[in-house]
Amino acid sequence: MRVLVTGAQGQLGQTLLANAPPGWALLGLDRLQLDVSDAEQVRSRMELEQPDVIVNTAAYSAVDLAESNETDARQVNAGGPQNLARAAHAVGARLIHLSTDFVFDGHATSPYAPDAAMHPLGAYGRTKAEGEQHVREILPDRAVVLRTAWLYSEYGGNFVSTMLRMMTERDELMVVDDQVGSPTWARSIADVIFAFIARPDIAGTYHWTDAGQTSWYDFARVIQQEAFALGLLDKTIDIRPVSSGDYQAAANRPAYSVLDCSSTVSDLGLVQVPWQQSLRAMLQASAGQ
Ligand SMILES: NC(=O)c1ccc[n+]([C@@H]2O[C@H](COP(=O)([O-])OP(=O)(O)OC[C@H]3O[C@@H](n4cnc5c(N)ncnc54)[C@H](OP(=O)(O)O)[C@@H]3O)[C@@H](O)[C@H]2O)c1
Repeated sequence: MRVLVTGAQGQLGQTLLANAPPGWALLGLDRLQLDVSDAEQVRSRMELEQPDVIVNTAAYSAVDLAESNETDARQVNAGGPQNLARAAHAVGARLIHLSTDFVFDGHATSPYAPDAAMHPLGAYGRTKAEGEQHVREILPDRAVVLRTAWLYSEYGGNFVSTMLRMMTERDELMVVDDQVGSPTWARSIADVIFAFIARPDIAGTYHWTDAGQTSWYDFARVIQQEAFALGLLDKTIDIRPVSSGDYQAAANRPAYSVLDCSSTVSDLGLVQVPWQQSLRAMLQASAGQ
């Protein structure tokens, strides 16, 4: 089976390529090797490679920058999956397309089901929502739209790596406590992607995160506690809660973005790992333990 991964230099792209099941041939293409927003490039590359499955991790993921660059974000987040879905249709491939909790407005008080109405608050979520719609329309029977949230990994810049850096550089830190979601190790979602690849009979919109929910503030406190215990930090600092209003980011973020993953659990027969357990495993790997 030939599996082609777009956005191969991103944190999920790197995680997929580093953790492919034995015997699987994954072809990773980064932005320079395949620009998903270029329809002709996508069409000709897919014709050449003839993949059985395309996993689209490529994204314009700078949430705040997207507010002032919505056209650029749309080319990647909506045009990219549209091009990939058309090319997948032409070569008979499946498409597993990654999407986000930011397609929701965060006004819910219980986990969002995969068929909950999308109502994005900003440009990133809006363009990702458009991308999802293209995939569902062009490839209804051969695509999985897989939403996840609060991703972190040992690769690139993400909340965990940023917190660890700031905890070494600063004496105190202020972190927002009025946004609630489910921190998710990229390796958890990679395993689910591999499970979807192994099930060509499944198509549709699905959710996956690690289990449980927390605020960014409590997530930061647990990161510090675990990293200190593992010797990744040689001191602890004061972490104080602030509200999103105090933080002044360009983009509004959903206040509550917990995703209901039960259909993925039942259709794939998987178990969600508590987010604290995944965080510890990722930090242990970083500490070489
Ligand atoms: N990170 C999160 O918290 C989070 C949460 C929910 C869902 N997701 C979704 O999960 C997926 C993976 O996210 P991630 O965290 O791995 O993102 P990431 O680290 O930002 O990786 C995205 C990759 O896509 C590449 N890219 C940008 N424009 C491209 C283009 N036109 N053609 C090809 N590649 C392009 C980027 O390359 P450059 O760096 O060179 O631009 C980057 O390597 C995305 O669909 C994202 O929307 C992420």
